[in-house]
Amino acid sequence: MPEPACSSCYDNAFDHRLADRELRRLREHGPGRASLAIADALTSGRRGAEGLSVLDIGGGVGAVHELLLERGAARAVDIDASRPYLEAARSEAARRGVADRVRFINGDFTAIAPEVEPADLVALDRVVCCFGDVDALVGRAAARTRRRLALTIPPDWRLVRAMIGLGNAWYRLTRNPYRAYVHRHERVVAAARREGLVLIDRRSVGAWRLFVFERPILIADRP
Ligand SMILES: C[S@@+](CC[C@H](N)C(=O)[O-])C[C@H]1O[C@@H](n2cnc3c(N)ncnc32)[C@H](O)[C@@H]1O
Repeated sequence: MPEPACSSCYDNAFDHRLADRELRRLREHGPGRASLAIADALTSGRRGAEGLSVLDIGGGVGAVHELLLERGAARAVDIDASRPYLEAARSEAARRGVADRVRFINGDFTAIAPEVEPADLVALDRVVCCFGDVDALVGRAAARTRRRLALTIPPDWRLVRAMIGLGNAWYRLTRNPYRAYVHRHERVVAAARREGLVLIDRRSVGAWRLFVFERPILIADRP
């Protein structure tokens, strides 16, 4: 991991207890608003996700790639720095009978990005705020995007920064190396643009902000 102090902290920050809770929530109540908004944004204006490939970075218990597989995606890759979350996503894929269409990889996406095959649809659902190097995370995700990239991040207001700062002070105090981040939105957009993507939508989804990017060739090709 780029943050040396956090070499295994994702397994602790997103541990089995949280993974079980998230999985129960997904099974009982379905995907959350942010995940649904990402899946809708990635599939809007086309016939579902028919035959497309998916890269779900920091997929958690699997809400986004499961939605896209349901909507016709051919296959998905889920790369997650947390082993407990990855195990939960794997068990959900098995329960739904789609395990043969999902490849699960444990690790820091920014470290393994050059070996990751580009995908048509790429998701970063509530992940950018869990990682310090926003340029690497968003830039490398954009570089692996053939069609669309959708991501959700918190508002970059001063109040939100202060709240996250308090949380991080607690982590410091308790010697927990995990940190949360409120990255500037213009920096997120710039990282995707540098890799040739165009911002096609940005809006609020509950407490989150949704950003949707596309490869411009597809805009030009639209009827
Ligand atoms: C708040 S959870 C969100 C999970 C899921 N996307 C959702 O919205 O329910 C953040 C996830 O991002 C993962 N993550 C953070 N940085 C990562 C990185 N650089 N590479 C891979 N996974 C990462 C964490 O392990 C965790 O599973």
